[in-house]
Amino acid sequence: MKNTFSYENKELENSRIKLGETVSERFGERQPLCFLHSFGCQQNVSDGEKIMMMLSTVGFGFTNDTDEADLIIYNTCAVRENAEDRVFGAVGNLKHLKEQKPDVVIGICGCMAQQKSVCEKIKNTYKQVDLVFGTFAYNDLFVMLEEIYSKHTKVFNIEENTGIICEELKQLRIDKVKATVPILYGCNNFCTYCIVPYVRGRERSRSIEAVVNEVKALVNEGYKEITLLGQNVNSYEYGFPELLREVDKIDGHFRIRFMSPHPKDATNELIDTIINSKHICKQLHLPLQAGNDRILKLMNRKYSVSDYMKIVEYARSKSPDFCISTDIIVGFPGESYEEFCDTKKVIKEVGYYNIFSFVYSKRKGTKAAEMEDGISDKQKGLWLRELLLEQRETAMEINNKFVGQIKEVLVDGKSSTIEKLLNGKTDEGIIVEFEGDESLIGKFVNVKIMKAMNWALHGEIAE
Ligand code: 5AD
Ligand code: SF4
Repeated sequence: MKNTFSYENKELENSRIKLGETVSERFGERQPLCFLHSFGCQQNVSDGEKIMMMLSTVGFGFTNDTDEADLIIYNTCAVRENAEDRVFGAVGNLKHLKEQKPDVVIGICGCMAQQKSVCEKIKNTYKQVDLVFGTFAYNDLFVMLEEIYSKHTKVFNIEENTGIICEELKQLRIDKVKATVPILYGCNNFCTYCIVPYVRGRERSRSIEAVVNEVKALVNEGYKEITLLGQNVNSYEYGFPELLREVDKIDGHFRIRFMSPHPKDATNELIDTIINSKHICKQLHLPLQAGNDRILKLMNRKYSVSDYMKIVEYARSKSPDFCISTDIIVGFPGESYEEFCDTKKVIKEVGYYNIFSFVYSKRKGTKAAEMEDGISDKQKGLWLRELLLEQRETAMEINNKFVGQIKEVLVDGKSSTIEKLLNGKTDEGIIVEFEGDESLIGKFVNVKIMKAMNWALHGEIAE
């Protein structure tokens, strides 16, 4: 094998070498190609990048075209039903391809695959699928593929294990400007609507040293924005504010973001750490989910509206325009229109610059799935529209405050709406559009904000 990469873990390294040889024998001089698509959150995308890195070390290249792929992997999300429907649709479409190219290996992995009922459904209904593996099985990828290639069997591996973190599994990052770094895996919270604790197991934290070293290496490679990931970053075993302060000590011109903190243990110390830092974006994504105490209790969120408001008020007392965004679930089982209106009230009071809102989706196996639910999805959809319309006005008000200011923007790329415009994001995460040369993509640029829209700001490069 041409590849000189080596894992310190002997078992992993041996299985990698073995699969590398099998791959060389099977494909000869031709480089095998993998199509991998990750659905869902950044954590899942980061897992997908780990799988890609593993595959690249045994000789795989990558393609965006399923027709020319030798290995197709859908890395799936289970958080809402529509995410699952999209995967079933995509895999259903591969039936014809598998008939034409029986040698192509089709795999489904990630959160959705981790559920027993889904794994069974795939086994029984989607015969074109050769490989199903859950969120605990990434370390076994080489062994699983070896089994498929050498024994021509199918593999279904959704066993839960202790989920030991293998620090050697690095991500193959396609983006050269923004990177994600997981700091902890799993979730212990058991919010009653949420499937995540069932498909990602209990919390496991990486060490401060491992995270800091990875961020340092990324900054040295030239990355400009690094997002620390965890289902609940505040549960980070060795202290989240402490980790942030350590990462903040790293030299260079870069930004740190993180996703997501749980309001039940967001502390004043966390807010102080953000505000006093050099690199951490002055922004907080603080998922409210609902603005009514009865619903919050049914959700098992472990905070009240007044607890939540205390954090917001502390942040605003330190920095009056502190930008906060949130997640909202509309139509939790048993939620009345009046209770939904309480959520709208809290939203107005906080003044979020951005809201990610979703209609409640029933997830089999969760507590909420057993709760009485009298409101139709259609009705919930109307509530959601109402919320979004009000939010537009709030976003406009917040964005207007930036007019006249000079903001540092990290340039993402060309605008999707108007050809000659570039777009990027402020420290707070607000989109800014401005005229500029493509060579600025991936760089920090100072932009004078001239105009606000409800979804973005418009500006001109400042001298
Ligand atoms: N239905 C709708 N939205 C959900 N979320 C999590 N579970 C569900 C569900 N069953 C939302 C929450 C969470 C975000 C990542 O997804 O708002 O913060
Ligand atoms: Fe991410 Fe949760 Fe979806 Fe899994 S179920 S991909 S953890 S959002």
